[in-house]
Amino acid sequence: MKGVILAGGLGTRLKPLTKITNKHLLPIYSKPMIYYPLQTLVDAGIKDILLVTGGNHAGDFLKLLGNGQHFGLKHINYTYQEGEGGIAAALQLAEHFADGERIVVMLGDNILEKSIKKYVDNFRQQKSGARILIKKVEDPGRFGVVEMEGDKIISIEEKPKKPKSDYIVTGVYMYDSGVFDIVRNLKPSGRGELEVTDVNNAYLDRGKLCFDILKGWWTDSGTFDSLIKAANLAKRKANRKENA
Ligand code: DAU
Repeated sequence: MKGVILAGGLGTRLKPLTKITNKHLLPIYSKPMIYYPLQTLVDAGIKDILLVTGGNHAGDFLKLLGNGQHFGLKHINYTYQEGEGGIAAALQLAEHFADGERIVVMLGDNILEKSIKKYVDNFRQQKSGARILIKKVEDPGRFGVVEMEGDKIISIEEKPKKPKSDYIVTGVYMYDSGVFDIVRNLKPSGRGELEVTDVNNAYLDRGKLCFDILKGWWTDSGTFDSLIKAANLAKRKANRKENA
């Protein structure tokens, strides 16, 4: 299983913080944002990792991460997204790296309390298709919202005005090699982006979308409020470890 971290985009919601650096290099308590998804993948046993970045400060990732020695890695792969075409456009750049293997994709601004190893193991058991991690939140309208019928997902809507549930799709996605054909056939959304929600809905239409409910806290960190929330959660987790 290979890992892909999507850390492109321009981080416009965090301006002026992102005027002179990449969003994923901003601090979350004691570490740069990008450390968190990278550690989550490494803790799940994923060592072959591609980082997709973009914008004016892409070179700083190399300075910060190098070959990933800090994470016990021998090598990190890097690629560059021109412009801000959306999450699925960034994902498309991973096709060459994936080379027919399954991938675990993480959004570079997602911070999780607990390991995702058991979910990755569930995906390994799955014959084909995709697997997403969903979570109940207080502000579902900011995310991809899942509509459930019993224990089945029946639709996913990106940032709906009237969310059909409190369950949202977190930024951890597991895909088989069919994902790149799906991305190739996507049309840009109203906001001009290739949406990851459309990728997940394509798997849903084929009856190939599985899910787990994520345990432990989860947050994104791409807005001022979620950035400080992430810092506070990370601080609590770090303090707990120190006192353990
Ligand atoms: O955090 C989970 C949510 O992430 C999901 O519930 C949504 O369905 C999904 O669309 C996404 O929503 P956001 O609006 O929060 O995505 P955002 O544009 O902030 O992008 C999240 C990360 O994806 C960002 O930190 C880097 C990466 N990205 C994004 C874009 C637009 C790229 O690598 N390239 C891009 O062009």
